[in-house]
Amino acid sequence: MSKTIVIGSDHGGYHLKTACIKALKEWGFTVEDEGPDCLDSCDYPIFAAKVCNKLKADDEKLGVLICGTGQGMTMTANRMGVRAALCTNEFLARMAREHNDARCLCMGERVTGQGLALEILKVFLDTQFGGERHQRRIDLIDTVSL
Ligand code: RB5
Repeated sequence: MSKTIVIGSDHGGYHLKTACIKALKEWGFTVEDEGPDCLDSCDYPIFAAKVCNKLKADDEKLGVLICGTGQGMTMTANRMGVRAALCTNEFLARMAREHNDARCLCMGERVTGQGLALEILKVFLDTQFGGERHQRRIDLIDTVSL
């Protein structure tokens, strides 16, 4: 499991980002906070890009992106070539890692309460990719055209 987590949000995800950083440090992870550092209104693609660029530069790192709904972060990260999964429960978090080898967990602060969000984060980080048939399918994501 990666011990370094790169995290970012927008204003809509700022409070949950703060809570995730606190929990991650308590769990022994190194945290790279790509911002923002205040609640001022800001644009989520900027912070998604900061996190994704760090993930693309180091395969060992995992990412967390949080906005109001999680939607904009998920769209931006996947467009940047980082497999990112919007998770609203522990099952989705486990499957995102085990089947989809997601490198970035996305959540919505206006959707998911803090307690559940931290459980989702824990499951995401505790779950390993299953490999085998799932690797073939992930490879197809980048190559498929019908
Ligand atoms: C900001 O108001 C909101 O649009 C953003 O946090 C996010 O939900 C976008 O997907």
